[in-house]
Amino acid sequence: MLRGPWRQLWLFFLLLLPGAPEPRGASRPWEGTDEPGSAWAWPGFQRLQEQLRAAGALSKRYWTLFSCQVWPDDCDEDEEAATGPLGWRLPLLGQRYLDLLTTWYCSFKDCCPRGDCRISNNFTGLEWDLNVRLHGQHLVQQLVLRTVRGYLETPQPEKALALSFHGWSGTGKNFVARMLVENLYRDGLMSDCVRMFIATFHFPHPKYVDLYKEQLMSQIRETQQLCHQTLFIFDEAEKLHPGLLEVLGPHLERRAPEGHRAESPWTIFLFLSNLRGDIINEVVLKLLKAGWSREEITMEHLEPHLQAEIVETIDNGFGHSRLVKENLIDYFIPFLPLEYRHVRLCARDAFLSQELLYKEETLDEIAQMMVYVPKEEQLFSSQGCKSISQRINYFLS
Ligand SMILES: *[C@@H]1O[C@H](CO)[C@@H](O)[C@H](O)[C@H]1NC(C)=O
Repeated sequence: MLRGPWRQLWLFFLLLLPGAPEPRGASRPWEGTDEPGSAWAWPGFQRLQEQLRAAGALSKRYWTLFSCQVWPDDCDEDEEAATGPLGWRLPLLGQRYLDLLTTWYCSFKDCCPRGDCRISNNFTGLEWDLNVRLHGQHLVQQLVLRTVRGYLETPQPEKALALSFHGWSGTGKNFVARMLVENLYRDGLMSDCVRMFIATFHFPHPKYVDLYKEQLMSQIRETQQLCHQTLFIFDEAEKLHPGLLEVLGPHLERRAPEGHRAESPWTIFLFLSNLRGDIINEVVLKLLKAGWSREEITMEHLEPHLQAEIVETIDNGFGHSRLVKENLIDYFIPFLPLEYRHVRLCARDAFLSQELLYKEETLDEIAQMMVYVPKEEQLFSSQGCKSISQRINYFLS
């Protein structure tokens, strides 16, 4: 970050640049004077004029205001000046430029005191991703959008939102988690408001569980102090140590009213596991064989099985944790096993995402490379859409 006089210099040059950056969609002061055919309305000239005028407003005070807006921590010494009894106002255009500049600056630097300006909550993008990029998961499409959107649009939620994704590998659990991250935060996984934990990677040794507990607690606390909307993802949740699940309990409970200020008001926990993926597959297989179409399968068919079966998983920490037993998980979201036609679509997407041409036969060939189960019906891809993008390389040589 630029410090001291350098900052001022930098800002000054920025304002003088003919093509001074502006945030997308911002109104332009010179708009409307830009008539074609008029020699005096040369847009570059108009712009330069306006910018010179705006630059004229650049004073120590102007600078102070900008710097207070962008780096609020550094501005105490001048605060009195800004709020003092004499008070002062910027010329209208100056104020406008200040706002434009601040918005523009904040579009690539994290400059808000609580990281708020990097939260995008793009539900249009999320809906599009879920409907277009995810295949064969109509329940996930409806549930994820509805629950996440409903929660984030609640003004003062009483508790964190906890979603548990269940399904076989390759059915899209990680994919959907990533869609959430990318549409809710402009920086995606790089955001300071998002933390992802992979059980076997971040907490590999049971003997260090006490250390892990402390680390986890402090990471959650720090993230929540930084952001008013946080997202915590636990991959391989079925492998989390019971001790770690225990420390998560209080974060998922309903908050006492006075607890509002301590924690960030919007917190989402995602638990990803293949726990009871086999139950989902059994139910789906049974329904398909009974003549139902895949899209007719509803949550009512699946959720009761899912929750009951998870609690009954004797050997598993997740099923036995308070999270499940005390209903701290808000929704169990089933990822259905993928069929041949879905694998084909994944293959098509893999070609498209690399901007490569493909033939219909190639998509079939790729889909045929997967193993389908159960032995008899050969309906579901045992690896879902996993490693499809690596497989297409084979066809490129
Ligand atoms: C939301 O996402 C869509 C699709 O990815 C994108 O076209 C749009 O520009 C995004 N909107 C905002 C406000 O970022």
